[in-house]
Amino acid sequence: MKVDVAAKYDVVIIGSGISGLICALELSQRNKSVCLITKEAITESSSLYAQGGISIPLSESDSFERHLEDTLNAGSNLCDVNIAKEVIRHSVNAFQKLVSYGVKFDLTSENIIHQTKEAAHSVPRVIHVGGDASGRIITKTLIDRVCREPNISISQGACVLSLLKESDRVCGVLVEDVARSKYVVLAKHVIVASGGLGRIYKYTTNPSVSTGDGIAMSYRAGAVIQDIEMIQFHPTVLLEKGDPRLITEAIRGEGGKLKNINGEYFASKYHPQAELAPRDVLARALLSEMEKTNSGFVYLDVSSFKKEYFINRFPTVYKECIERNIDVFGVGIPVSPAAHYLIGGIKSDIYGSTNIPSLWVVGEAASNGFHGANRLASNSLLECIVVPHLLVEKLMMDSNFHLPSSNTFNVDFDPENFTDVELLSFISELQERNTKSIFLVRNELVLNENLIWLRDLMSKVNLDLISSNIQLQELKNMILLSFLMTQASILRKHSLGVHYREDYKNLPTEFIHSIFKKDEDIKWQIQKNKPEFVSVLK
Ligand code: SIN
Repeated sequence: MKVDVAAKYDVVIIGSGISGLICALELSQRNKSVCLITKEAITESSSLYAQGGISIPLSESDSFERHLEDTLNAGSNLCDVNIAKEVIRHSVNAFQKLVSYGVKFDLTSENIIHQTKEAAHSVPRVIHVGGDASGRIITKTLIDRVCREPNISISQGACVLSLLKESDRVCGVLVEDVARSKYVVLAKHVIVASGGLGRIYKYTTNPSVSTGDGIAMSYRAGAVIQDIEMIQFHPTVLLEKGDPRLITEAIRGEGGKLKNINGEYFASKYHPQAELAPRDVLARALLSEMEKTNSGFVYLDVSSFKKEYFINRFPTVYKECIERNIDVFGVGIPVSPAAHYLIGGIKSDIYGSTNIPSLWVVGEAASNGFHGANRLASNSLLECIVVPHLLVEKLMMDSNFHLPSSNTFNVDFDPENFTDVELLSFISELQERNTKSIFLVRNELVLNENLIWLRDLMSKVNLDLISSNIQLQELKNMILLSFLMTQASILRKHSLGVHYREDYKNLPTEFIHSIFKKDEDIKWQIQKNKPEFVSVLK
């Protein structure tokens, strides 16, 4: 089918979370024409649901070295130490930039920025906005700015189906909008800022848009995908009576305690840092207590908080609980682990450059080595506010080439389609199976079963052709990424950070990254820029 070129820009950005919005603003201010394309409304992204905040070493009790050490410790020896140094080194500037955009961080009664503690931080360093509404307020402030920029066009309800290439360079995107019109947008640069893939699981904190589209289309275009099996599960997610909702770790940072349904406090049995143990350790502790008590949840006990303080400090959590008739200050908030944050993704450097000229990546879709094998809490928003500035500076130096002259592109769409009922059934079985196999505790037997089932599904759903049915294309993206994750999880025969194998509890002898590239077998790459002083957490 021939698809017409509808527009040409300097830069296309896929996704409207915090990192995509900052890229758009900074590029527009440098007179680049930008098209920001987003599947749903511009407000919908994972950033919107971020509660905790941003970790930045601002206080006198903190330092660059301390933040670095906490990051590397949490990352279990798989961090790229040079990347971690760069991100933390730029943190204060990126914070000041956010303030200049109009973000007003919460203050203490002494009028200094309030900093709280989250898992695996040795000092309070997480700054926040609107109590637990950090993501929502930062996103809103940035959107207000983006909407006033003359150089930015916003396409909402538009799904990028595929990247387009001319010779080895990415030159634009194939888009389908809500009216099912298909068109091509050409661009000198494409920035993937489309977030993670939590929706491949039954339980996730991620919104419905998180189907891994940007990562899957980059893989199809030849991008290198790194550590895709490394996904972080958040220990405390409210799954009761409605959509899953994050229950921020900051509550535990400020005194919330976990107890099983028999009322026994258990966290200190599993790790000396108890409620503030690294997320993977605590999430597995929850699973074990849930199994022991034959329950689908444990309770987060917040009875030590003064009610008024809690309601003002955690308004988002409180509202969610009240809407679900949860006895917040009585028995506590029922919580269980759920998929939260993809650590792996499109392999990139500190500038968001990938192995494909003109293809860039920021935010959760990127894998640059900052988070190692386990992300330090609130380091993700830090990455989201730092890397866009570095990316934009680098991109500005790389504009000396031309866009293709053709006005149409030939696309082979998949002629096969499925009914809505069939699609929903594929999606829910995929989510069920991934939740059993590539979850918190993995083993070869169950992973192999998943691989066999995925292979069978791939004989029914052709991953090689793009579908013009957006839901089917999302399913294809999720199948592809589930397949890569399952394969890498089988072949990573050790436990490290978020990847825990009950049949291989040993740590690796070498710290390695899984590497996938289209039409090639999985490869393993040794982590070169190693931390010097790290204790490996298991
Ligand atoms: C939280 O608020 O617990 C989540 C923050 C994060 O994922 O870093």
